[in-house]
Amino acid sequence: MSRIWDQLDSHHTGVKDRSILSLFDQPNRAAQFSAQLGEMVLDFSKTNLDDEGLALLLQLAEASDVAARRDAMFAGAPINETEGRAVLHTALRDLDASVVVDGEDVIPGIKATLDRMDAFAEDVRTGRFTGQGGAITDVVNIGIGGSDLGPVMATLALSPWHDGPRVHYVSNVDGAQIAETLKGLDPTTTLVIVASKTFTTIETMTNADTAKVWMATKVSDPSAQFAAVSTAADKTAAYGIDPSRVFGFSDWVGGRYSVWGPIGLSLMLAVGGPVFRRFLAGGAMMDRHFQEAPLAENLPVLLALVGIWHHQICGYPSRAVLPYDQRLARLPAYLQQLEMESNGKRVAMDGSDLPRVSGPIVWGEAGTNGQHAFYQLIHQGTGVVPCEFLVAAKGFEDDLTHHHQLLVANCLAQSEALLRGRSLAEATAIMAKKGLTGAELDRQARHRVFPGNRPSTVLAYPQLTPEVFGAIVALYEHRVFVEGVILGINSFDQWGVELGKELATALEPVMRGEAGTEGKDGSTAMLVNFLRRA
Ligand code: F6P
Repeated sequence: MSRIWDQLDSHHTGVKDRSILSLFDQPNRAAQFSAQLGEMVLDFSKTNLDDEGLALLLQLAEASDVAARRDAMFAGAPINETEGRAVLHTALRDLDASVVVDGEDVIPGIKATLDRMDAFAEDVRTGRFTGQGGAITDVVNIGIGGSDLGPVMATLALSPWHDGPRVHYVSNVDGAQIAETLKGLDPTTTLVIVASKTFTTIETMTNADTAKVWMATKVSDPSAQFAAVSTAADKTAAYGIDPSRVFGFSDWVGGRYSVWGPIGLSLMLAVGGPVFRRFLAGGAMMDRHFQEAPLAENLPVLLALVGIWHHQICGYPSRAVLPYDQRLARLPAYLQQLEMESNGKRVAMDGSDLPRVSGPIVWGEAGTNGQHAFYQLIHQGTGVVPCEFLVAAKGFEDDLTHHHQLLVANCLAQSEALLRGRSLAEATAIMAKKGLTGAELDRQARHRVFPGNRPSTVLAYPQLTPEVFGAIVALYEHRVFVEGVILGINSFDQWGVELGKELATALEPVMRGEAGTEGKDGSTAMLVNFLRRA
């Protein structure tokens, strides 16, 4: 293993200064450095990878036992070793499989819950289930992290199919969010979903309590308009939610991987069961590809290897996810949890220090908005940010195809600009044409130089249908998995979120003035005193 890492390092040293554009002298480069699944194509030819680099990365994947770890995951082995759990979000979308955990096939239970969700969603959508004031007009999903980001992203992504009640999301414990959300709603026609895997998350439970008080202002039995999604049936019962409106799942579904099951209830209420199942089918299609395609043609594996190349080998600290698809505007936020909570670790599975840096910083924004904000840095800043573009061949606004053509042109132009750049000679010629000469020409031209040679990938797909959307989300899930396996990380725990939670719990009574700041560092004590004054 370490030999392959060393070979990759020396390969990089040998090629790091070459022109990526020159690699296109090889006529079939674009075809060779891209991979297809159905009509979806991942083009990674505008990176500095060549045959040798890719071969070494594939060797790394082989030597890391990616295929065996993948098979263990799908089979329900307890690969989340620090929590002693299987990792089976894939089972939520492969309803024809048989997956045995602790001697029991889990698929019948998944199907039964999905059917219950379907029936409940239909009841709400058709007005059979009502609030005290009549048919449900609004759904408020209260959850945070994985109990929010996936459904939020998916509800926007599948908005062309949104024909159910309006859906609102409340995640932040900042009262501003729940207050602003509930302000315009009628408690008598609102359904509240409390979505929390553990049903203990302080932000979610605080918001749920507030929603209950709000509902009680107009509704005699607020709990009757509450549903819950959780692994903790005892806690949902103690909260007073009738079991008929509680949708459970097992601890082998990680929070950030949970949109495929009951945590997706708000999405199902918006788009209906059949569309939700099409989303699942898209994820299952990517699962099959991930399981069956050779590593060298496997989209999640290739995307992971490009990620490893850019972060662990080239040393680029972050990657930008840039969907030229407004309906994927929340994908970057979703991926921040998926990627950084999964692979932002410092020790390997066995507790030893990681020999390499772990996962990168992930950020991004929908195109073209980003172009008018941070692309300046991407093109001319001193650091390199590998960019991952996503774009559809077709939008949904049939009378606005000129918008879509402009959108696609911008996406491809950005990728091309990053590759080509603009040399000093080109910039000088442009400014000379404008009449500049001498030192001023030189000065102005230098500001207009684009170094180029900056890597990007493009994921292109026909249209953001439920199937394509499901496939994209599963693609990224498996990409994170493969990167985690290669780095020796447990991608399925998240101990790094614990300390802040503990300290916040301890600080709450201090903020209420019921405890002092003894033992606190000087900065925290000063800030407590400043903020308590208000
Ligand atoms: O932030 C930590 C975390 O545990 C995430 O992993 C999870 O998605 C989120 O909190 C919410 O947890 P729960 O669904 O249990 O409320």
